[in-house]
Amino acid sequence: MKHARPKGTKDFVPPESGRKQWAEAKFRRRAELYGFREAVTPTIEHTELFIKSSGETSDVVTKEMYTFMDRGDRSITLRPEGTPGITRALLENALHLPCRLYYIGPMFRYNRPQKGRFREFYQLGVESFGEASPQVDAEVIALGSEFFRGLGITDCESQVNSVGCRECRPPYHEKLTAYLVERQDRLCGDCRVRTVQNPLRVFDCKEESCQALLADAPRAKDNLCSACAEHFMGVQEGLKMRGVPFVINDRMVRGLDYYSRTAFEYISRSIGAQDSLGGGGRYDYMVQDFGGPATPAIGFALGEERALLAAQGSAVPEPQLVFVVALSENERPAGIALLNELRAGGISARMDYDSRKVQKQFRAADTAGARYCAILGGNEVAKGTVALKDMKTGEQREVARRELIPKLIADCRTQIAECRMGERE
Ligand code: HAM
Repeated sequence: MKHARPKGTKDFVPPESGRKQWAEAKFRRRAELYGFREAVTPTIEHTELFIKSSGETSDVVTKEMYTFMDRGDRSITLRPEGTPGITRALLENALHLPCRLYYIGPMFRYNRPQKGRFREFYQLGVESFGEASPQVDAEVIALGSEFFRGLGITDCESQVNSVGCRECRPPYHEKLTAYLVERQDRLCGDCRVRTVQNPLRVFDCKEESCQALLADAPRAKDNLCSACAEHFMGVQEGLKMRGVPFVINDRMVRGLDYYSRTAFEYISRSIGAQDSLGGGGRYDYMVQDFGGPATPAIGFALGEERALLAAQGSAVPEPQLVFVVALSENERPAGIALLNELRAGGISARMDYDSRKVQKQFRAADTAGARYCAILGGNEVAKGTVALKDMKTGEQREVARRELIPKLIADCRTQIAECRMGERE
């Protein structure tokens, strides 16, 4: 083969593309149920946008961005995440607050590809602006957790933490830095740099020796100011009120720099080392840092490929394609009329125009994954019927043309209902 896709990218072709559509439709529905509306923003942004928000010391900005100079000598970056672009769009379009937006789209990070980790991947995200109550944090966390449950993912754990605010973080950083400096000689090289640049990042280190050392390190959640502590309590109460199970993970700091107060992640143990199905948190300073008014904000992004991996066992409704088969050229015009009728009735339909032979038409129906063949011979045309062949069972029976569409619609509903039963919603 002459061409292969770039490393770390993925093709979505049928039936996988159908599963992707299914997940996205569920996400849209769930987000809209919570009053979020869709925002579509560019996949490219000015590089500075991410440096100013995702963080000058974050891995995403320092190691993973696809950045290039365009022909007009501007530094452009393929978005590594959606939050900064959505925040920019909120301000640039002067949207009224409070404002709830959701998005679905590709993100780009130059990292080492592995199971569940790509260089181009899709995120499903929500962002709420202008709502400060901890009840909103609980709603947002609940939304993601319900979405995963709706995909049939049963082992998703919601982990929550609080990373404090600009009041309580500096004294906490000092405390943590002092703790780390005292033990510097036992830290890995990376963590020594992290101690100086952003001590919280040390919690992300995968080295066992560093993790062991952190066992007694001061935690953000134990060093919150009273307003942050109260907010964190409110989030936990909100989750309990909504019946969302959660665990507190006081080592979770998230990989991006903009978080304040609530940080959370959805973890699944069934998808390998890249076990974060999604994550998010509050970022109450971003709008102001971008030149807007002080505006609280919270959101999440879910990894679509990882969600699909975790939902592998779930049944997804398949498209109900009907293949029209003309037994001879005489029935072609009636076949074309039937195609139109089916499509007008909302049923997907195709016909093989290239083959005269009936066997070849059936083979084409098979290749297309048709659920039924609607066969037209001279008799059927004369009587106003079709011979409907079920391609799964091989059964064939005569159906009156006027009953055909209601019957196919009813079948489609049954299939959707069967899939739903498997979802444990
Ligand atoms: P993030 O934790 O960097 O947060 O990414 C969110 C999710 O995207 C991850 O949990 C994972 O499921 C998925 N993901 C990240 N990188 C990759 C990759 N290389 N391949 C496949 N999936 C990946 C954010 O992006 C924030 N913008 C979330 C947010 C929204 N915070 C507030 N609002």
